[in-house]
Amino acid sequence: WATSAHTHENFLQCLTLGSGNSSTISEVIYTPSNSSYSSVLQFSIQNPRFSTPATPKPLVIVTPSHVSHIQAAINCSRTHGMQVRVRSGGHDYEGLSYVSDVPFVLIDLIDLRSVSVDAKNSTAWVQSGATIGEVYYRIAEKNRTLGFPGGIATTLGVGGHFSGGGYGTMLRKYGLAADNIIDAQLVDVKGRILDRGSMGEDLFWAIRGGGGGSFGIILAWKIKLVHVPSTVTVFTVSRNLEQNATKLVHRWQYVAAKLHEDLFIRVNLTSVNSSQEGKRTIQASFNSLYLGRIDKLLPMMQQSFPELGLMREDCIEKSWIESILYFEGFPSGESLNVLLKRTLLIGAPFKAKSDYVQEPIPELGLEGIWKRFSEKEAESALILLTPYGGRMSEIAESATPFPHRAGTIYKIQYVVYWEEEETAASKRHISWIRRLYSYMAPYVSKSPRGAYVNYRDLDIGTNGKGNTSYRRARIWGNKYFKSNFDRLVHVKTVVDPANFFKNKQSIPPFSSGW
Ligand code: FDA
Repeated sequence: WATSAHTHENFLQCLTLGSGNSSTISEVIYTPSNSSYSSVLQFSIQNPRFSTPATPKPLVIVTPSHVSHIQAAINCSRTHGMQVRVRSGGHDYEGLSYVSDVPFVLIDLIDLRSVSVDAKNSTAWVQSGATIGEVYYRIAEKNRTLGFPGGIATTLGVGGHFSGGGYGTMLRKYGLAADNIIDAQLVDVKGRILDRGSMGEDLFWAIRGGGGGSFGIILAWKIKLVHVPSTVTVFTVSRNLEQNATKLVHRWQYVAAKLHEDLFIRVNLTSVNSSQEGKRTIQASFNSLYLGRIDKLLPMMQQSFPELGLMREDCIEKSWIESILYFEGFPSGESLNVLLKRTLLIGAPFKAKSDYVQEPIPELGLEGIWKRFSEKEAESALILLTPYGGRMSEIAESATPFPHRAGTIYKIQYVVYWEEEETAASKRHISWIRRLYSYMAPYVSKSPRGAYVNYRDLDIGTNGKGNTSYRRARIWGNKYFKSNFDRLVHVKTVVDPANFFKNKQSIPPFSSGW
């Protein structure tokens, strides 16, 4: 401890004395003795599972207000052998942006969040600490027929979200957020500020989907805005098991990835109280965005998915920006200003996992899911089925590190929440989701069994505590990135050979060992 306390003191001294902006950096440094330390740390913890007294805390938090603060934090951490964790919105499912088993410095980008929209050229520069909700808001403020294909939850930080791909309701039309990034500014391990030209195409490729926390600190992204019609249509049609939900979900699998790319219909599966007293049932909610008006949507649905029985009164026309609020679950008529809030709607601890489906699951397979859903631990569980196809199938597997393209019909996300605080409760719920995941094995992608890096899941493998090895990392790396993993390792070896930017699932350099 004496050595670590000493290192910590030297690190702080380095930060305050060594930085060119020392007069301002002292205002953005928090140590546990500072009265704001806890609130700064807590503010962006989006999974309370990692906010317990036992969760390891950072020795120092830096909330840079200028890029020189990031440079100073990197340089001093390297000089004094401290590890860093980088946080933008704090949504990492496993808390990797603010938790570490070794002493560490938290660089929290919450105050680097400017969004500057150039509507004339349909582009914007967005700093990493901005939320995707702020991005949508600033775009709509300038032009209601421009949008961006980012995430559905509006509090996501663009730093982590774009780094891991980033999908939302327009993925079938425009692909992922990462597919629509045209430039970036990054601070590398040497403290240099690089843009697309100076970082080179390999590193620029790696940061658009290779996951956050491995290659440097993204300061800002330049994004390409996309066209959205002035009126879009949304609907949510819910059916339970007594209303033919099994057959509808089964049929949806054959339809969803082949629909017109303007039409996105996802399925949210939950366990709800049935109308028969004391009984529970499964509810499938078909939740949709159509980039057009009701009059065109209805015949399209009649032709491709008549079984759902969509009626005109199920549909609501809105502007695209209002559809963002709809998908986030805000009541109709809510002010757009909620997009500027950073607080999550749900604040319960959770565990999540993901899968990709290439062949429709037979009805018998679906019934096995319902059976697991009827267990007590699943009362607050959710399964989300997100359709692919359209633009997602046109982009080559190697175009970005995100490989789940042609051949994928949909993605599954499993989430379980719980209210109880005791460790035993979290163990029960986590064990439920793991059992469901093993049940699903025959029905989902294999060799590798795919997973989405933005739905971080440490169950699929982690780097070792000491030295990271390529062979060990390849186990989880192939699931997230398939054969793109090797190129990510190659880029890492070139840009950060000493593995300064590391965490439990960061890309290792070859130099770290076979
Ligand atoms: P956070 O700050 O935790 O960062 C995540 C990772 O990126 C960490 O490893 C971190 O170190 C690293 N990182 C962060 N900023 C960085 C930077 N500037 N430079 C380098 N590395 C950086 N996904 C999706 O695609 N569509 C969706 O609709 C949703 N919805 C959703 C809802 C909710 C409630 C949650 C909790 C999560 C999602 N996600 C999602 C997943 C989300 O995309 C994923 O968690 C992102 O990594 C979140 O980015 P943040 O910046 O918020 O996280």
